[in-house]
Amino acid sequence: MLNYQVNQDIILSLLEENDAQSLFGLVTANKDFLSQWLSFPAITNQVEDSQAFIKRSLFRFVNKEGFWVGIWYQGSLAGSIGFLYFDWKVKKTEIGYWLAETYTNKGIITHACTAMVNYAFNELELNKVEIKAAAKNIRSAAVPKRLGFQYEGTIRADEVIRGTFHDREVYGMLRDEWNG
Ligand SMILES: CC(C)(COP(=O)(O)OP(=O)(O)OC[C@H]1O[C@@H](n2cnc3c(N)ncnc32)[C@H](O)[C@@H]1OP(=O)(O)O)[C@@H](O)C(=O)NCCC(=O)NCCS
Repeated sequence: MLNYQVNQDIILSLLEENDAQSLFGLVTANKDFLSQWLSFPAITNQVEDSQAFIKRSLFRFVNKEGFWVGIWYQGSLAGSIGFLYFDWKVKKTEIGYWLAETYTNKGIITHACTAMVNYAFNELELNKVEIKAAAKNIRSAAVPKRLGFQYEGTIRADEVIRGTFHDREVYGMLRDEWNG
C-alpha cells in the first residue's frame, strides 16, 4: 500500500519524511477539532514532531509492526489512517484515523477504511480488524457501524484525553464476515 488509489478522489500513500510540513500544517490548523478525541495534536508543536512521527511510522512499516498512510483528497492531504499494530500470532490489527474538519462528511474515512480492511485481509492475510472509539465519539463509532463491524463491548476507562478518562467501544470484523 505504498500508493493506493481508492477512487477518483482519494489516494492513500505511505507518509514519508517530505510530507512532514503538510502534516504539521494540517494538524496545527485542526488542533482544537482533533484534540477533542486525540492526544497527539497537543504534543505536535513543531515540524520536527511530525517528522519524528513519520520516521517512527516508517520504521514500524519496515519492521512489519504497523504504519500510517496519508489520505490525499483531490490532491491535498486531508488526514491520515493507519494500522496501530500487527499481532501476527493472533492475525489481528486495529485501525485508527482522523480527518481535517473541512474534509469530514464526504465519506472519505469510510472509503479509506474499506481499502485498509481489504488490505488487511487480502494482502496481509490477517483474520481480524478492530476499531475502537471513545463511547461519546459518535462520528468515529459510525464508521465501523457503517462498514458492518460488530459491536463487541465497551472497555471502561480505556483512554485519557485531556485529563479525562473515557470508555471505549470495540468494533470487530472477521475475515469470513467481510464482503469488501
Ligand atoms: C472520526 C472522523 C474521521 C469521522 O469523519 P466523518 O466525516 O464523519 O466520516 P466519513 O469520512 O466516513 O464521512 C461519513 C459522512 O459523510 C457522508 N457522506 C457523504 N458522501 C458520502 C459518500 N460518498 N460515501 C459515504 N459517506 C458519505 C455520510 O453520510 C456520513 O455522514 P452522516 O453520518 O451524517 O450520514 C472525524 O470526525 C474526525 O477526524 N474526528 C476527529 C478525530 C477522531 O475522532 N478520530 C477517531 C478517534 S477513535
